[in-house]
Amino acid sequence: MRVVELFCGAGGMSIGFKQAGFEIVHALDAWPEAVEVYRRNVGRHAWVADLKNIAEVAPILFGLRPDVIAGGPPCQDYSSAGGRQEGDRAGLTAAYAMLIAIVRPEWIVMENVPGALKSKAWQQAEAILRNAGYGFTIQLLDAAFYGVGQTRERLIVVGRLGEEDGFLTDALVAAASRRPTTARDVLGDAIGDRFYVHPRYMHKKRIWSADEPAPTVRSTYARRVPPDYVPISTDAQGDGAPSELTRDLVAALQGFPADFDWSSCGLEDRDRMGGNAVPVPLARAIATVILQRHRGETQPALERDFSSWLRDRGHAPSTVEDVRAKANRARRLLGGRIMSEIAAEVAKLEGAAAFQELPAKTQSALRVALRLHAEFRQERRQAPLKKAVKARKTSAKKAA
Ligand SMILES: C[S@@+](CC[C@H](N)C(=O)[O-])C[C@H]1O[C@@H](n2cnc3c(N)ncnc32)[C@H](O)[C@@H]1O
Repeated sequence: MRVVELFCGAGGMSIGFKQAGFEIVHALDAWPEAVEVYRRNVGRHAWVADLKNIAEVAPILFGLRPDVIAGGPPCQDYSSAGGRQEGDRAGLTAAYAMLIAIVRPEWIVMENVPGALKSKAWQQAEAILRNAGYGFTIQLLDAAFYGVGQTRERLIVVGRLGEEDGFLTDALVAAASRRPTTARDVLGDAIGDRFYVHPRYMHKKRIWSADEPAPTVRSTYARRVPPDYVPISTDAQGDGAPSELTRDLVAALQGFPADFDWSSCGLEDRDRMGGNAVPVPLARAIATVILQRHRGETQPALERDFSSWLRDRGHAPSTVEDVRAKANRARRLLGGRIMSEIAAEVAKLEGAAAFQELPAKTQSALRVALRLHAEFRQERRQAPLKKAVKARKTSAKKAA
């Protein structure tokens, strides 16, 4: 599958997709130093471009016919909780959406800070993308559960043309590890039992145990222990001085390969690029989940309450099990797709070679099961609306 990465930075996201088996065909960023680092390490397909210039960029991307557009538009404008006005850069999220709406790849991925979800920029982008035909899985994922030795909560939006919302949720959740990855899991003995991290707020914990995930990597992370630092009660306790993180260790915490070449940029730029990056293992995990679904190797789990919904409609227990089995079978024939339009879903099912070989009676039962499942989902979508209408009617009656 062919990927274009926008806002590629030094290439954390691209490396993860590459490791999962995707081909990165093009990458763009406005920061020449980051593009140079990307080109040295990931591939010569990266170019400097201001992505506000939609009219210039869109024809190039359109011609590349990517299967996936991935990117993390700049997030500084809404990365601090509450208060800050959304600035110029937040408009880049809408530019990202517009480029996608023009190119219309089958899949899209957006990474951002959790605060982006409530931003006007995302609301605007979401409207553009929905209008272009995408359904979404919107998840907050903690990178520590995807092989990254660091707590890093990020908003991950995966979109697919024609798909029902939530189509990939259970696959993303299933890809998480049972326990978080610790700093020691990634860095081994290099950090001893405790290490120092320079915090954003000076009263916060600074000394961390190697047996917990490190805190979120930021650009000011790797600093020396101040000689006058007095440990506080929340610091990891232990004997001796804590280790100091080198830039190479910080890069390893972000999942960059050990031989990654940062030599073309200054230290401040390197710190920013590293702090900005999508951790490689997180990107790889998301990419793998996408690839597996694209190949039809996974499918969304059937909801438990589909059974009670069927029973409420008078289906006997044995029929309920049969409908569930048929809905699952139809979903497998659809290659795991769950489409927002039932007509499109049935048409796709009927186009599947394996479906065409089935006896007419089985075909009809599969269609019925898919339709029932679509009806169930439709009712669930409308449930909040129905509740609101009912509440309004009740309060109107009371007032009369
Ligand atoms: C969050 S970082 C992306 C990091 C990247 N996904 C990675 O994994 O390494 C956002 C990037 O957006 C870039 N950027 C900011 N404004 C831009 C613009 N107008 N056009 C293109 N890129 C821009 C920044 O230079 C920065 O590299």
